[in-house]
Amino acid sequence: MSPTSDGRITWSRGPWGVVTGVNRGIGFEAARQLALHGLHVVLTSRDAAKGQEAAGRLLAEVAARAWAVETHGGIHVLVNNAGVNFNKGPDNSVESAEQVFETNYYGTQQMIDAMIPLIKPSPYGARIVNVSSRLGRVNGRRNRIGDVSLRDQLFNDDCLSEQLIDEMIKKFLEQVGQGTWSSNQWPQMYMDYSVSKLAVNAYTRLMSRRLSDRPEGQKIYINCFCPGWVKTAMTGWEGNISAEEGPDTGVWLALLPCELGTNGKFFAERREISF
Ligand SMILES: NC(=O)c1ccc[n+]([C@@H]2O[C@H](COP(=O)([O-])OP(=O)(O)OC[C@H]3O[C@@H](n4cnc5c(N)ncnc54)[C@H](OP(=O)(O)O)[C@@H]3O)[C@@H](O)[C@H]2O)c1
Repeated sequence: MSPTSDGRITWSRGPWGVVTGVNRGIGFEAARQLALHGLHVVLTSRDAAKGQEAAGRLLAEVAARAWAVETHGGIHVLVNNAGVNFNKGPDNSVESAEQVFETNYYGTQQMIDAMIPLIKPSPYGARIVNVSSRLGRVNGRRNRIGDVSLRDQLFNDDCLSEQLIDEMIKKFLEQVGQGTWSSNQWPQMYMDYSVSKLAVNAYTRLMSRRLSDRPEGQKIYINCFCPGWVKTAMTGWEGNISAEEGPDTGVWLALLPCELGTNGKFFAERREISF
């Protein structure tokens, strides 16, 4: 691959990426746009028939070279897109909240664990892009966690750990089970979804530190982004951004020149925003 005049990377031959939850919405578009940039994209969908159908739609559009069968031996890009939001609010149940955490946070974590060994050395560095949400900001003006001590710990790189994130999720689920959670303690909107995306954001920062000492040629840059309010099944097709525009910042992050050294950051509209 090589940088182009507009600063993006043009992948030449061989690079592979993986996108989760591709059968519709932002995942479908992220896969399509990365394939159009020359990546061979492995599509993952929990429903094989829906995944096949999505692959068929992509095949019809994307140049055949992106789909040629070859031995690839590794990937350069992972987009963790699969996600759920049941919007149950006060009617939330532990089972529903657990599904949100399992998919949005633990699913992302498991994909990263599973895919890192498959990442292929490259002078440009590999990319992991986590699809997140502004609803999961630790210190956002609205919708933030009420517990100041927890907020401080999550914000402080020296305190941040998987254990801290797990404990936050456990406490949330316990309170949902007991009916003792309150909107003073947890994000006021889409509570479980917001906490799950907060976990994704925190994990992005944690992993960026862990991955930062990899040697030249084996660098992995990990960032997360909020696509905005996108018209997909998740929002009941409401929103102010089309599904085609939704993955723009994620695709940009996947192709960003490595000399910018973007790592462990949160983005929206191609600009860094605060966690
Ligand atoms: N739309 C927005 O306004 C918005 C805003 C901020 C962030 N996001 C994030 O953007 C990402 C994509 O959302 P979208 O708007 O494109 O929603 P969507 O149209 O509902 O698509 C979600 C995708 O995730 C897959 N998925 C759900 N649960 C899964 C599981 N347990 N295992 C594997 N795949 C699973 C779905 O597959 P199935 O069809 O099999 O369920 C589907 O392909 C999510 O992470 C979401 O949180 C969206």
